[in-house]
Amino acid sequence: MDRIRIKGGHRLHGTIPISGAKNATLPLMIASLLTEETLILDNVPRLADVGQLQRILGNHGVDVMVGGKRPGETPYDGQTLHISAARIVDTTAPYDLVSKMRASFWVIAPLVARMGQARVSMPGGCAIGTRPVDLLIMALERLGADIEIDGGYVIARAKDGLKGGEITFPKVTVGGTHTAIMAASLARGTTVIENAAHEPEVKDVADCLNLMGARISGAGTSRIVVEGVAKLGGARHRVLPDRIETGTYAMAVAMAGGDVLLENGRADLLQAGLDVLVEAGAHVSATNAGIRVARNGAGLAPVEVKTAPFPGFPTDLQAQLMALMTCAKGTSHITETIFENRFMHVQELVRLGAHIHLDGECATIEGVGKLTGAPVMATDLRASVSLVIAALAAEGETMVNRVYHLDRGFERLEDKLSACGAAIERIAG
Ligand code: EPU
Repeated sequence: MDRIRIKGGHRLHGTIPISGAKNATLPLMIASLLTEETLILDNVPRLADVGQLQRILGNHGVDVMVGGKRPGETPYDGQTLHISAARIVDTTAPYDLVSKMRASFWVIAPLVARMGQARVSMPGGCAIGTRPVDLLIMALERLGADIEIDGGYVIARAKDGLKGGEITFPKVTVGGTHTAIMAASLARGTTVIENAAHEPEVKDVADCLNLMGARISGAGTSRIVVEGVAKLGGARHRVLPDRIETGTYAMAVAMAGGDVLLENGRADLLQAGLDVLVEAGAHVSATNAGIRVARNGAGLAPVEVKTAPFPGFPTDLQAQLMALMTCAKGTSHITETIFENRFMHVQELVRLGAHIHLDGECATIEGVGKLTGAPVMATDLRASVSLVIAALAAEGETMVNRVYHLDRGFERLEDKLSACGAAIERIAG
């Protein structure tokens, strides 16, 4: 298994290109199941999760063609996928595939909407909490699907197709909103989704579905209205930039010091995260080319932050912020309100010398003068990258084990950071 070795203490200077968003790419690829025509996606990041979803879709009979290199293209330019679900040959998504990636459960919506049936393994728990699918099931039931749970599988049936309905989510759920929009796009009649997720990735998927012929309005707000259509067609869509990757490198620059342009990063997708960085003492400015983040010499100020659905501070940046605050001058408090157990990075940060106390959903971080390198390991994607951030400022060498978590969600992380002066390398193993 590959490892990443980091020697701390190098400031970052230069440009980091931001890739297409993982959390938009995955539902966009799944949306291809809604049409027999080809969906072309540009700016797709080269990530392990994208490859895994390609295998899952392949099992349903979907062909995915990856476009070849084009003149002037750099290794950082995203890929173009041509996805064709002309003939769906299997409506079952088996345990061994779904258990590797939770978002693959979302195939249930387009499969039942287009094929009238789907049998999808329950995704189960994962390292950041129990993460149930009850609200996704509720949404499908509201659209007339019959649901049965048998042998660890959710079986959804709608022999005569889905019917529009009212879906009110008792809590904001990104996956629930994606599921509801996709299913409602091919349902007969109108669906109203209340308390929908505002996340920019929801809007990106809705924009793509509208290009495919869907009739969705209100995406990006808490009330989404979908007028069902009989059929969807092909389209070409460019995946929006990854706001979590942007925020992660912004925190890395704040941690290590330096001055970096996050090329293609969009401040409007990340305002709450950028505001916290400014409060902590980083300089942040939005330019036509992206977002510039700098910190020169001055110490970091502590912050009080609660994660929240968009436009609040994202849970997917909580671990990275905690890494940053380990070196602040004072005590910070970070409260995780989205997932009940998303603190797997705490014990690893402590191995680097951080002082963190956990009390339920609230972490108290007492800034220390310096961290010290150590071997570390993490059990989820964002936790892993928080260790990389901490290591950039730690004295000596840190070895991050289980790098496959990073490869799930960060494209060429070590190349992007080393191009800006970080002493980071991958050790194949
Ligand atoms: N929830 C339920 N029942 C459900 C669905 C969700 O109780 O049926 C709960 C969850 O347990 C959680 C809350 O609702 O407490 C919000 O979960 P949500 O459904 O919004 O999360 P998700 O759709 O499974 C996506 C992202 C996550 C991100 C969350 C929150 C993708 C592929 N995943 O997950 O991203 O943390 O939204 O913003 O879009 C990551 O990229 O590292 C990651 C975990």
